[in-house]
Amino acid sequence: SKKPVRVAVTGAAGQIGYALLFRIASGEMLGKDQPVILQLLEVPVEGPQKALKGVMMELDDCAFPLLAGMEAHSDPMTAFKDTDYALLVGSMPRKAGMERAELLSINGQIFIGQGKALDAVASRDVKVLVVGNPANTNAWIAMKSAPSLPRENFTAMLRLDHNRALSQLAAKTGKPVASIQKLAVWGNHSPTMYADYRFATIEGASVKDMINDHAWNKDVFLPTVGKRGAAIIEARGLSSAASAANAAIDHMRDWALGTNGGWVTMGVPSNGEYGIPKDTMFGYPVTCEGGKYKIVEGLPVDEFSQGCIDKTLAELVGEQDGVKHLL
Ligand code: NAI
Repeated sequence: SKKPVRVAVTGAAGQIGYALLFRIASGEMLGKDQPVILQLLEVPVEGPQKALKGVMMELDDCAFPLLAGMEAHSDPMTAFKDTDYALLVGSMPRKAGMERAELLSINGQIFIGQGKALDAVASRDVKVLVVGNPANTNAWIAMKSAPSLPRENFTAMLRLDHNRALSQLAAKTGKPVASIQKLAVWGNHSPTMYADYRFATIEGASVKDMINDHAWNKDVFLPTVGKRGAAIIEARGLSSAASAANAAIDHMRDWALGTNGGWVTMGVPSNGEYGIPKDTMFGYPVTCEGGKYKIVEGLPVDEFSQGCIDKTLAELVGEQDGVKHLL
């Protein structure tokens, strides 16, 4: 049987954590033959630490055969020790009256600390996924704070946008979600992301030709995907949690186990692809194989798409500029 791997999860007592941990422990993320040790981090505050203990009691009560160990932490320096996978979910949510700059700066401090801790104690091959918002900028900060780790080990979650777009396209075309190939989402995990179905196919046929409606793309599809998070909050009174956890599972599973040539979306540091400045943590279409992702290169970019990419890039550059001084 396989040797257990270490999986660190931050914000473990939060609502995404509650939808995520049980699926990791059941083998849905790394495979039904891969034992895991969960290293769970919460803030050093009595309430969340107590809630974390309760979640761990429930994990115990599932008697998961693959759960080889479980630890509660309040310090990233111990939580990230030797970790092979790190899902950085916890972050400071925006409170009423809080300025964007203030939010960026508080989260900047959190992700500097966590990046430094990963740099100091994690496995040199650690795969890091940042879920906590602003996810791309937080991932960028963590990467910049971990100079001894390969920069490509740091990624941000765009997969929820990708999955939301897939489901809208399935509904529009009347075809199964699983039949849709080659969808791309570019840019920031925010309403400015650009979900791009120009290359998408269903059983070899072009999705763009099937839909053949640019007004729908611009006025219905993109706003629906971009504002989906707000629509969930409006309906549920709480932000997306189960779908966010599901996207995190999908992201890590595909990165670790491969996509068999299929495209998925990951926020990854640019090497200059598509004119995006180096290191910008940008949503790109990627394929995964052997534990590595590869950006899909050489796709044509038309005028409309370039406009969308420029807009989401400008937002990301603005966020980076807002936290640069902290680094
Ligand atoms: P939540 O508020 O229910 O849970 C967050 C947990 O993180 C709390 O228990 C809190 O104590 C903990 N936490 C805060 N700072 C921490 C730190 N420095 N170290 C360890 N733990 C810390 O929030 P929820 O719903 O679980 O969402 C978590 C984050 O995920 C939010 O930032 C949210 O905006 C983001 N998100 C991202 C999505 C994406 O697609 N990238 C989708 C949905 C949510």
